[in-house]
Amino acid sequence: MEVVVHKTYEEMSRAAAHLVADVLNTKPNAVLGMATGSTPLGLYQVLVRMHREEGLDFSQVTTFNLDEYVGLGPKHEQSYHHFMHDNFFKHVNIAPSNIYIPSGTTSNYRAFCEWYEQRIKQCGGIDVQILGIGSDGHIAFNEPGSSLSSRTRLKTLARSTIEDNSRFFKHADEVPIYAITMGVGTILEARTLVLLGCGANKASAVAAMIEGPVTAMITASALQLHPSSMVFLDETAASNLKMRDYYDWVLKMKPGAPQV
Ligand code: GLP
Repeated sequence: MEVVVHKTYEEMSRAAAHLVADVLNTKPNAVLGMATGSTPLGLYQVLVRMHREEGLDFSQVTTFNLDEYVGLGPKHEQSYHHFMHDNFFKHVNIAPSNIYIPSGTTSNYRAFCEWYEQRIKQCGGIDVQILGIGSDGHIAFNEPGSSLSSRTRLKTLARSTIEDNSRFFKHADEVPIYAITMGVGTILEARTLVLLGCGANKASAVAAMIEGPVTAMITASALQLHPSSMVFLDETAASNLKMRDYYDWVLKMKPGAPQV
């Protein structure tokens, strides 16, 4: 796991965008795994700017989103469908038929989840999966206790997640209780994982994910099992890391890194 601490949120977002752009420049038909939440907003803004100003091309890209609230249709302002279109898809040249987001309104969740897993495989698997982290250490909506082998499925949200995400809704009781989410096992099959973490409220979850044991109680800790995972943090999210000096040293001594 590579841990990179950036001075600011903006710097972290730019670094993540450059990583995605590098993938697209070598594989124009890459499959990207997309995340929602406030954390990846900066990354999407930089990618949109790169598309507009530098011609970063999404015409052959396919995307799979991590999750969606059950009960919210694509037009609902707080649905992840709406979030993705509003913050990213409508600003780039991606083909609408190449966009996959779990359905929050399917009449058969089990069948939908199986189909979603199959589509990921049929599209060649996910090249780069972007992730955020919940304050309880979850990735996507894999709440504490989720199997580290779990697949795409219906999941009941933890009370703390409902509380965290209530800031986006008018009233806390409007936050859905269920979601469809890729499983931890699904996420671990992506070729590269990039988790973004910012803000002091993520500091303890981030430390547990990186420096604690691999445990279903912190599903983000499953990144420790992945051969190609990166964690990009801002200073505040990194503030509880015990090995901080070492992560900075590794970065400084990275072959090819400028020595100052
Ligand atoms: C939700 C999403 C996660 C996201 C988390 C953190 O629970 N399902 O994918 O990582 O929120 O969101 P934020 O970045 O807004 O803190």
